[in-house]
Amino acid sequence: MLEIAGLRVVMGAQEILRGVDLTVGAGEIVAVVGANGVGKTTLMRAISGVYRPSGGQIRFEGADIAGLASHRIVARGLSQAPEGRQIFSSMSVRENLVLGGGPHGLAELDRVLALFPLLGERMSQNAGSLSGGEQQMLCIARALMRRPRLLLLDEPSLGLAPKLIRIIFDLVASIRAAGLSILLVEQNARGALKIADRAAVMEGGRIALAGRAADLAADRRVAETYLGGHVEA
Ligand SMILES: Nc1ncnc2c1ncn2[C@@H]1O[C@H](COP(=O)(O)OP(=O)(O)OP(=O)(O)O)[C@@H](O)[C@H]1O
Ligand SMILES: [Mg+2]
Repeated sequence: MLEIAGLRVVMGAQEILRGVDLTVGAGEIVAVVGANGVGKTTLMRAISGVYRPSGGQIRFEGADIAGLASHRIVARGLSQAPEGRQIFSSMSVRENLVLGGGPHGLAELDRVLALFPLLGERMSQNAGSLSGGEQQMLCIARALMRRPRLLLLDEPSLGLAPKLIRIIFDLVASIRAAGLSILLVEQNARGALKIADRAAVMEGGRIALAGRAADLAADRRVAETYLGGHVEA
C-alpha cells in the first residue's frame, strides 16, 4: 500500500532523512519508534506532502506521491493526524470535524462518531476545553473524516496518562479492524510494538532495524534502548 525507498529530506545544510526504506501493507499497523529528533515527524511530513523530499520514492497504492501537495495526497486516501494535535481550539468539536471532512463533509460524521462516542457527547464544546485525551481523539477523528485508506499517526499517546494511552492504543487497533492501514510513530515503544504487526527503529535519519513487532520487542538491544531494559515475555 505504501512503499518508501531511499527517502531523503534536506533542510538547509542538514540532511534529516538519509535514505529511509519502509513499507506498509494493506490492513497492517506498522510502528516507527526512536529517540527524540531522529526524524520520525519529518518522515510523516514528507509522506503527507508537508515537506518536499530531496530524493527517493514514495508510492501509495502504486502511484508516485513524492512531492505532491498535501491536499492531493489526502484526496488520494492518505490522511495524517499530526504531532501536537493541531486542532482549532476556539472552534467546537463539530466544527473541527466538519472542517476536516472535505468533500464528504457531514456524510462521514455519523460513521466517525461511532468510533468516538465520547466526542459525540461533546459536539458543541470548544475543542480547546477538551482534555488532552479527548483532543487526541478529535485529532484522529478529524483525520478519519477524509475517509482515508492509510492513516498516519504521529505520537498519539504523547502527554497522556497511562489509562488514556491504553484507550488510544485500543482505538488504533479498532481503526485497523475497521479496514484501514496505519503507520504509527510512537515514543511509547512498548505500547506501539504490542499493537503493531511490523516495526522499524529509526536512528539518525535512517531505519536502523526493522522486522516483526514481536521480534523487535524480544530483541535485547531494542529492549535496553527503547523498552527500559525489559524484554517482552
Ligand atoms: N523545518 C525544519 N527546519 C530545520 N530543521 C528541522 C525542520 N524540521 C525538523 N528539523 C530537524 O530535524 C530533526 C528531526 O526532527 P523530527 O521532528 O523529525 O524528529 P522526531 O523524531 O519526530 O522527534 P520527536 O520524538 O522529538 O518528535 C531535528 O533535529 C529537527 O530540529
Ligand atoms: Mg516527532
